[in-house]
Amino acid sequence: MNRGNIKLNNPERFSGRYEIPHEKVQKAIDKALDKLSLKLDLYMDKFPGVCTQDCRYQLVENSNWTHGLHTGVFFLAYELSGDKRFFEVGKNHIASYQKRLYENINLNDHDVGFVFSPSVVAYHKLTGDEIAKQTAILAAEHLYVDGYSEKGGFIMRVGRKQHIEPFCRTMMDTLMNIPLFYWAGEQTGNQKFVDAANSQVNVTANYLIREDASSNHHYQFEVGTHKPLHGVTVQGHRDDSTWSRGHSWGVLGLPIAYTYTGDESLLPLHRDITYYMLNHLPDDYIPYWDYDFTSGDEPRDSSAAAIAVCGMLEAIRYLPDCAPEKEIYQTAASRMLESLIDTCATGCGKEFDGLIYKVTPCKALPEYGIEVCASYGDYFYLEALMRYINPDWKRYW
Ligand code: GLY
Repeated sequence: MNRGNIKLNNPERFSGRYEIPHEKVQKAIDKALDKLSLKLDLYMDKFPGVCTQDCRYQLVENSNWTHGLHTGVFFLAYELSGDKRFFEVGKNHIASYQKRLYENINLNDHDVGFVFSPSVVAYHKLTGDEIAKQTAILAAEHLYVDGYSEKGGFIMRVGRKQHIEPFCRTMMDTLMNIPLFYWAGEQTGNQKFVDAANSQVNVTANYLIREDASSNHHYQFEVGTHKPLHGVTVQGHRDDSTWSRGHSWGVLGLPIAYTYTGDESLLPLHRDITYYMLNHLPDDYIPYWDYDFTSGDEPRDSSAAAIAVCGMLEAIRYLPDCAPEKEIYQTAASRMLESLIDTCATGCGKEFDGLIYKVTPCKALPEYGIEVCASYGDYFYLEALMRYINPDWKRYW
């Protein structure tokens, strides 16, 4: 089975157009917004810890890669409801991103795009605010100067200023950091951002995605020469396995890259990695934390499902009706999102602070929680609901 020719093992599972009833999607949105509205005051100037502990988010300052997504949740909630109170929370966060940038608070790694796209870029897109635009352009410049290796043509896992590790890697996750480069290239006309983003896509296609359309979490390059060496994992089960959330960053990141580049070669690559994922889904459509597992009691990662739903819904925006994968993506996205609504969405009661649980940040690092809530689960669940109910939604990425 080679790339370019990955087949669905069980095509009947995703054939025939299936859509979630509109009222069910709207009810899920209302439930999520009701839950968020209980926290407006708490979140006005605070951010959740990386994941829930005993069902609760600890409140912290804006300092993590996940925090951009927390702000993005409120902009999505505003767009879904028209309720200005949600917008005010997101707006109130913006100054803390300026502080993060000027004081360089935990920004010396590959995840600068996750921090700035769903927050400051989103705010600029919603309001036209010029200061937000300049802040996000400076963030892209920071990522370029600190994190991009011109020699390797990739964004390094750890930026130059951090100096904590003697190795040089790039990661699947980074496909969701390059929309900041594409956007900055559009805003400034500076081709270096676009070239860097395109190069990251090429490196991903050449080294991170394997011949059978599975994916490495990281790829190791030789320090100094940046000669390619081998795949490796941090959050997955084995170096040779496929970490499900990392794979989903590709399922969403590639179609977004296509919208900026028009590079037709990305479409079959995207189909291959999407089919790989669909071939590894358990009966209830919620991935295990690593695709080594397709049944049994291993923890799930519902965030991998939410991100992948967004990726398939992004792709069907531009695939022609005659593309056979279009109906498959529509049906698979519906099945996965419906399962998120039915089996992972949290209630409005006290049981969990987040919007979906069963997020497993990293089974190998249980201190980050197993089947908990996390901001990226909350954000991409809401983005998936938004995309489902409003296919023309103007994305923040
Ligand atoms: N850095 C993004 C992630 O951990 O998924």
